[in-house]
Amino acid sequence: MSSTSTITMTEMKPQMTEKPTARPVARKQRTWHEADAPYTFANDDTEWERLNGVHRAIKEYLGNRITLAPLEELSPPPKKILELGAGTGVWAMDAANMFPEATVTAVDISFNNIRNPPPNVVLKQLNLLEGFPFEPESFDIVHMRFLLVHMPNFPELIKKCSAALRPGGLLLLEDIDQNLYSTDGEVPESIKTFYKHYHGHMAKSGVDGETGAKIEGVLHSLNQFSEIHVHNMPAPISAPYTADPNLNKMGIEMRKSLGKAYDGIWGKMPGSGLTQEIHDNMIRDAHDHDRQIYMDFYWTWARKADKVPETATLYQQAWAWWDYFVQTGWWILGY
Ligand SMILES: C[S@@+](CC[C@H](N)C(=O)[O-])C[C@H]1O[C@@H](n2cnc3c(N)ncnc32)[C@H](O)[C@@H]1O
Repeated sequence: MSSTSTITMTEMKPQMTEKPTARPVARKQRTWHEADAPYTFANDDTEWERLNGVHRAIKEYLGNRITLAPLEELSPPPKKILELGAGTGVWAMDAANMFPEATVTAVDISFNNIRNPPPNVVLKQLNLLEGFPFEPESFDIVHMRFLLVHMPNFPELIKKCSAALRPGGLLLLEDIDQNLYSTDGEVPESIKTFYKHYHGHMAKSGVDGETGAKIEGVLHSLNQFSEIHVHNMPAPISAPYTADPNLNKMGIEMRKSLGKAYDGIWGKMPGSGLTQEIHDNMIRDAHDHDRQIYMDFYWTWARKADKVPETATLYQQAWAWWDYFVQTGWWILGY
């Protein structure tokens, strides 16, 4: 079973006259994790504020929920929850408070950012490119948010997560297409140039920057789920021009997030061709109130079937790889 929903936009123009200006030049020194992984975002206080700000906006958008899946309806209630790429741990900590009887294992490449976790959060420092030490069918819930879009061969990680999930358990995959598009004309050259360099660099490590929309297809190809749900949220990045105030807030937060996530990124991406100037031009044009520029966010969740076939048929596996090659391989070869 599968359901897909899309927010309907109004064509309201923002009531703003002020023209965007270039960002201030004074910048904080950024710091990054040192693990051997293609992940390019920082792990400092600015990043901590960014991730927590986005988490707050998401909760507001979802009506004070931490995900769209009906976690509270799980029967029996979850005892083991796994969160991969936990960042500041803000989601893991909310899940731990929501289910005090459960243990929430929060995994990340580095934990500079997790502050005062509740006692039922277990921190596990791990580079997921070097191992996946979790028993089959051992978790009630597995969650990843904004991680797959940074991982080489993301379908493989989804497959491992599905294997770690118990029958009836919930797999929560929440991610973006790391790209901006326009509904009222061409995307500015500055934005195209930024993403050409960014994706070109990431593609060399096998990272697909437009993961969000492809997750549903990967879940179907695994043939292990009784339910698959997708909710697409096009976040209005350049101005708050939709009829939904919470969606507008999401857009504003995502816009602030772009500025913080990519700031200084050229220092972590030598050879990519990215420069401060390319970055600043992109951020300036992403803030152009006269345009309607969006970034797509996908909330995808699936329930593992009670009876999971031990192995998918040869035909299903061949189809899954073909689908992966066509969607991601083709995308990566384009850079
Ligand atoms: C964009 S952040 C998202 C954080 C969090 N999920 C959230 O939504 O706020 C991605 C996180 O994944 C972690 N990460 C990236 N590559 C990883 C890897 N190979 N193994 C483990 N964690 C990784 C990063 O350190 C970072 O904390």
